[in-house]
Amino acid sequence: MGIDGINWEQLYQDKFTPWDVKRPDSHLAQIIHNAPVKPCRALELGCGTGTNAIWLARQGFTVTAMDLSATALEQARKKDGAASCTFVLADFFDDPLPGTDFGFVFDLGCMHGFSNPEHRDMLARRIAQCLTVGGYWLNISGSLDGPAICPSRLSAREITAAVEPYFEILSLTATVLDNLSLEDKESLGLAPDLPPPRAFCSFLRKRGPEEA
Ligand SMILES: C[S@@+](CC[C@H](N)C(=O)[O-])C[C@H]1O[C@@H](n2cnc3c(N)ncnc32)[C@H](O)[C@@H]1O
Repeated sequence: MGIDGINWEQLYQDKFTPWDVKRPDSHLAQIIHNAPVKPCRALELGCGTGTNAIWLARQGFTVTAMDLSATALEQARKKDGAASCTFVLADFFDDPLPGTDFGFVFDLGCMHGFSNPEHRDMLARRIAQCLTVGGYWLNISGSLDGPAICPSRLSAREITAAVEPYFEILSLTATVLDNLSLEDKESLGLAPDLPPPRAFCSFLRKRGPEEA
């Protein structure tokens, strides 16, 4: 159980993972293809079953991918291309930082699980500690706007309160999460016409000491 109070390991064991769309995230692909993030040491926080970590490694990044669920990582390690990533079973809050020289952090759906603002602040601070000055963080969080499809949701104000002390906000865009396939919706018992949850996509740059 993480400090967000969610039993992620149990959800993976129960195969109830409605966030796992099983293909590379479209927001991540857009940032990597269009923004100034060049291949570097990258950290995926809360990597789940590893789809995005493996995709990032294929784009030339040296990827460390962390999750606290052993079952999720077991699935990740079985995927084609997994050998090119370093998968780490660890709790980002309790265990030592995976490094302090990353150039890019990706987090799809990890921060948004933290309903306590102090925990979000701690997460943003620890992510900043993992990054070199000027390093980037791409965060995708469920949005408080729209219907409560995804139980983990943040307002733009909650996101900016957590990240702004440590990061310059390069963009914060209202979007939707990538949609599950019809097949996955059916196997999860979800309505075929369930829309994808609304979300915020934040592209952030770590401030230097003189900017903090
Ligand atoms: C909503 S899921 C998203 C998983 C993956 N990013 C995806 O989109 O498929 C959130 C993930 O964060 C992981 N997680 C939550 N708290 C964590 C922590 N403190 N340290 C490491 N991983 C954590 C969970 O185990 C889970 O895999």
